[in-house]
Formats: sequence, C-alpha cells, structure tokens
Amino acid sequence: MRVGMAGLGVMGSAMARNLAGAGYLAGVWNRTGHRAEALADELGVPRAETPAALAQACDGVITCVSADDDLCEVVDAMRPGLRAGHVLVDTSTVGAATAEALADELAAREVAFIDAPVTGGAEGAAAGTLQVMAGGDATALARVRPALEAIGSQVTHFGPSGFGQRAKAVNQVLAAGMVQAISEALAFADASGLDTEQLLPVLGQGAVGSRLLERRGARMLAEDFEPGFRMALHEKDLRLSQALLQSLEVNLPMVEMTLKHYERLMAQGHGDEDMTALYRLKRELFRTGNRRSL
Ligand SMILES: NC(=O)c1ccc[n+]([C@@H]2O[C@H](COP(=O)([O-])OP(=O)(O)OC[C@H]3O[C@@H](n4cnc5c(N)ncnc54)[C@H](OP(=O)(O)O)[C@@H]3O)[C@@H](O)[C@H]2O)c1
Repeated sequence: MRVGMAGLGVMGSAMARNLAGAGYLAGVWNRTGHRAEALADELGVPRAETPAALAQACDGVITCVSADDDLCEVVDAMRPGLRAGHVLVDTSTVGAATAEALADELAAREVAFIDAPVTGGAEGAAAGTLQVMAGGDATALARVRPALEAIGSQVTHFGPSGFGQRAKAVNQVLAAGMVQAISEALAFADASGLDTEQLLPVLGQGAVGSRLLERRGARMLAEDFEPGFRMALHEKDLRLSQALLQSLEVNLPMVEMTLKHYERLMAQGHGDEDMTALYRLKRELFRTGNRRSL
C-alpha cells in the first residue's frame, strides 16, 4: 500500500520517517509548505501541493493535525482526490463525534475512515512504538494495518467509528492525573531540600514508576518545558474527554481541576510549552506558601 502523510508536526513528521523506513511512504503534505519540502527532501519522497494531490497519488492517507476543525478542513481539501477504495486514517486526537460523522459521510463515497489516535508521545512517535487505538471498519483497518505497524508497536481495534477516540479520551484523563501527581510530588521534593537526582531513580523503580516520570521528571525539575506534548493540545483533549463525560452526566474532579490549571497557565502564555509546565503552578505554591483554594 502506498501511503501519504498529511500533517508534519511533532508527531506526523516522526510517523512519516517510520513509514518511509518501512517502504510505505509515497508522499507528504503539510499546510506550512517549507516543513513538507524539508521532509520530502530528507526522505526522498514527493511533496504534494494539496491534500487532494496527495490522496490521488496514494492508496491511503494518514492525517495528523491539531484538532477537529483542522481535520475537517484537511479532509475537505482532500475530497477531490479521493476515490472508492481509499482508506483515510486519522491519528489526530479529535472528538468521537467528528470521527463518526466523517466516517459516515465518506462511506457514502466508498472511502473508509479509520479513527486511530495514538499514545506514546513524541518519543514513541520517533521510535515507532506508539499505541494505535483504532475505530472503524475492520476490513479497511486490516488493509492499512501493516503501515500502522510501522508507526506503532501495537494497533488495537476497539470497535466501530469513534471507539479509537473514546479509548484516547480515557488515556488523556489518566495523563491529567499523572501530570498532576508528578508535578506536585516533584515540587514538594524540591522544596523539601531532597537531592532530586538521587530521588528520581528511586521513585522510578518503585511502585509509582511511570514513563512520564522517567522521561519528563528531570526536565520538569530543570524547568525545561520544551514540547513534547503541548499544553494547549492536552487542554483540547481534556475538553473532548469532558464532552464524552457530560454525555454520561458526570464531571470528573481531576479533569475539571486540570482544565482550570491549564486555563490559568495558557492565559499567562504557556500554552505552547509542554504539558509538564503545570509544574510552574506547583512550584509557585511552595514559593509563596499559597494556600488559596485550587
Ligand atoms: N505531541 C504528542 O506527544 C502527541 C501525542 C499523542 C497524540 N497527539 C495528537 O496528535 C496531533 C498532532 O500533534 P503534534 O504534537 O504533532 O502537533 P504539532 O506539532 O502542533 O503539529 C500540528 C500539525 O497540524 C497541522 N495543522 C494544524 N492546523 C491545521 C489546519 N487547519 N490545516 C492543515 N494543517 C493543520 C500543522 O501544520 P503547520 O505546520 O502548517 O502548522 C502541523 O503539521 C494532535 O491531535 C495531538 O493531540 C500528540
């Protein structure tokens, strides 16, 4: 299968490299042209002028853009190039309802749409070890599975359209809890005068060890908030989780609190930093002795 990659940000460019390495990549497209040009040169594949031209040159297209409206714009622009039998795989994190609507609409043209959000971060994307959470038609998924296995170490089919996004929404709630817990605990450790270089490996190898702690703990303490995973993207994802939760008539405390914290930090201009910049608020609590309600 010849696959095109549309959206060459942190995640999409890494996916494109792995698709190229496995021999699937037939072309790339990105809204900001110079990024596509640089990657096309690096990987020795054509740069498509438009999403439609990319679709025309491929059997399947993998998209990785920021949010729902962006995905809809790209799919709109791709329409003239789509033909029966095409498979479109979206690895962006968007609403389950958006995925369902696009799948329904494209099915009428015999184009399959698979929602396939990923987890594993920039590091997992670079290593080709993402977890791919898929929803949609099983036959279409089977066709693109070999290509998806070039970007991820596991591709799991959760059910019909939207179920990949539902799984991802659960993941993002867990991510909120972990970034809350790690940032608070490390700010506490730092304020306590502990040698955090000594502490981090001990925490990492005990019961609370996690990849997030291992990969981002030291950087958080060093106040290095280079993304990684931008806070504004996690905020967007938590709103998607919140929408699904509201349909179940539940507000989860961790989700609500994290959204408040992100809003505060984003208003201060930190939205393009890594989500671990949440540490800024926790560090501040210890600097000011701030005991106001959270
Ligand atoms: N970063 C992570 O750790 C991570 C992990 C799992 C899932 N995700 C999800 O993966 C997706 C991409 O994340 P990322 O970190 O790669 O983001 P990113 O580095 O900010 O890249 C965003 C990409 O989307 C494109 N884009 C945005 N709006 C567009 C529009 N209206 N039309 C066309 N292209 C548009 C951008 O094009 P330009 O170059 O022109 O701006 C860029 O290629 C998001 O849904 C995110 O939630 C990210």
